[in-house]
Amino acid sequence: MKILVVGGGGREHAIIKALKKNPAVDVIYALPGNGGIAADAQCVPIGATDIEKIVAFAVEKKVDYAVVAPDDPLALGCVDELERAGVPAFGPRKNAAVIEASKAFSKRLMKKYNIPTAKFETFTSMDKALRYVDQVGAPIVVKADGLALGKGVTVAKTVAEAKEAIRQMMAEGKFGASGSTVVIEEYLEGPEVSVLSFTDGHTVVPMVSSMDHKRAGDNDTGPNTGGMGTVAPNPYYTPEVAERCMREIFLPTIQAMNAEGRPFRGCLYFGLMITRDGPKVIEYNCRFGDPETQVVLPLLESDLLTVMRAVTEERLGETEVRFSDKSACCVVLASKGYPVKYQSGYEIVLPALGENREIYVAGAETKDGKLLSHGGRVLGCVAVEDTLQKAVEAAYQVADSVTFENGFCRRDIGKRALDALKD
Ligand code: AMP
Ligand code: GLY
Repeated sequence: MKILVVGGGGREHAIIKALKKNPAVDVIYALPGNGGIAADAQCVPIGATDIEKIVAFAVEKKVDYAVVAPDDPLALGCVDELERAGVPAFGPRKNAAVIEASKAFSKRLMKKYNIPTAKFETFTSMDKALRYVDQVGAPIVVKADGLALGKGVTVAKTVAEAKEAIRQMMAEGKFGASGSTVVIEEYLEGPEVSVLSFTDGHTVVPMVSSMDHKRAGDNDTGPNTGGMGTVAPNPYYTPEVAERCMREIFLPTIQAMNAEGRPFRGCLYFGLMITRDGPKVIEYNCRFGDPETQVVLPLLESDLLTVMRAVTEERLGETEVRFSDKSACCVVLASKGYPVKYQSGYEIVLPALGENREIYVAGAETKDGKLLSHGGRVLGCVAVEDTLQKAVEAAYQVADSVTFENGFCRRDIGKRALDALKD
């Protein structure tokens, strides 16, 4: 079989490595992939949002199945176009990808179908937004409506901070068109849990839960990033919480999307906060999370390609999806200065890896046979072990055995989860 994967980060590397385990897979094309992914797939220099070229390539190569991983091409209708050209593809169509692409849409959906989430108001007028913040006070959360690479959210401790965020989004165009509509919402408190799920619009199968570490610095300090590390499972996702999420959030979301004429097929990611009043949705993503995927897929015991095709063909209900009960940890090695300002082009030497260890390459290119850093997040160093404690230690051993002069990582990935296990 010929498989095509759209995207070129650590998440895509993890997906490609999992797909490769299926013996029926002859070749995987990564569009565009990266210098590290090139060890596991044929990288083709077509950008992830160049929908026309992606479809033309898939048709020319007679690709049997495509996986569209990033949010942008999904929001642009990449799956719709591939299907139109006769190429079955994993991922939601454009009309369902809107669940991530527009926060105003997802917030209205949750309100209409009584899915627990933070109370909110949507604004297209800056004056009204500023006045609203004066009225309700802080702490309060300001979000750009559209896709902003996970950086369009300000959790404001003061009214002044909230107003500054609104001005930056609505007057200074910090996030371009994404910020012309803002969502202002109630500040929620509680531990966060990421749950990725497979769904074909009928059945929803949650994957093992995970915990992201979004801030750049130790002890959750510094600016927000795309994610500096993950652990799975997340100890706050107890069986009771899981049961409530299924009843109050997962199934109602799938049903709501069907009722709106936007059936969701693909990976639906629930960003949850476990508040005193129960689990609430912080955000939906229409795709696998990054770096959540790097800890979730190594724990998947079933064959990923089989599960994905069952999703596309709406047969998920009759397909086994099994996860190991081990734990995984991913420590991200990023370029010094990320996410603000950083340099690329530093040489990386990867160590030999033992069993249950992986390095997923997020940002690197090859030049003259050398692997050079290219981008903010560069590597995801992953270990799977019987316990979370062992997985965390082993992931740091992997990270510390990489040669990458300009790299840095947080030193406390997994600490919060381990503390929670002690309580
Ligand atoms: P998002 O991109 O919507 O996931 O938001 C990024 C981060 O901001 C989340 O992971 C939370 O840590 C935080 N956040 C978002 N919404 C809220 C909220 N209503 N209350 C408190 N924190 C929030
Ligand atoms: N790690 C968060 C995300 O993928 O959106």
